[in-house]
Amino acid sequence: MSLFVTKSIIAGILFIAGLFALLTMLSLMGKTERKASPKSLRRLHKIFGFIFTILILVNSYLGMKYWTAAGDQLSTRAVFHGILALALLIILILKIVIVQFYNQFLRFAPVMGITVFALSFVVFSTSAGYFLLRTICAQPETSEFSTPSPTSLKGNVERGVSLFNNKCASCHYADKEEARNGPGLKNLLKRENLPSSNRSATVENILLQLKKPWRVMPSFTSFLEQELIDLMAYMKTL
Ligand code: HEC
Repeated sequence: MSLFVTKSIIAGILFIAGLFALLTMLSLMGKTERKASPKSLRRLHKIFGFIFTILILVNSYLGMKYWTAAGDQLSTRAVFHGILALALLIILILKIVIVQFYNQFLRFAPVMGITVFALSFVVFSTSAGYFLLRTICAQPETSEFSTPSPTSLKGNVERGVSLFNNKCASCHYADKEEARNGPGLKNLLKRENLPSSNRSATVENILLQLKKPWRVMPSFTSFLEQELIDLMAYMKTL
């Protein structure tokens, strides 16, 4: 299972746990007529909060692993995701510390809890939601690369290797098909289909991947045409 699928499933479960934690607390504090006793509501809130916290920690670990492996080549979405997730984590830890040890600040706990839930909604919907929807609504899009196709021009493989090492190697192995952050690219153009999108394995579709990536890969729009040609010359040798 790819890292993104795992993270998305965990995020879905933790989001639901967060929703229940929020609802139990709202019934406890906001309802005048309650069906359940305050004690059991509080216990439920704790259980859901506990599940939420553990899963957040697991996902933070997976996210940090992705970040460290990807180095500087992160999509804008990944950067926002990470920053908001860190803010969420800090507020969550602060809230737990206040509830456990600093009861004189207890009045801030509800607003902190709601903030944590709101942040988890934003992080979840812009990343896991985006990833899952992109997967479900995937169009069998083919290349729409309209600039003069660099396939016919001669590229320099050596320069292609160094571009690959700088820009791609943090997420892709070139010498095996095994996945790193993204799929391994060995035999890339010798296969029938590209590994993630299943588009046919052509230079045009790799260029499309750089310009308008399928799902979560960051886009690379600042390559010069000669650099693209060199990179593709290298891709052909894999
Ligand atoms: C930050 C990590 C990251 C970097 C950097 C990165 N990729 Fe990717 N790449 C991915 C991921 C993740 C996927 C799989 C996308 C998915 O399934 O959501 C992918 C998929 C691909 C695919 C398969 C596309 C398909 O249609 O199946 C190709 C080809 C590819 N990358 C080439 C490159 C090249 C060339 C570079 C360097 C210019 C690069 N990648 C840089 C993460 C990265």
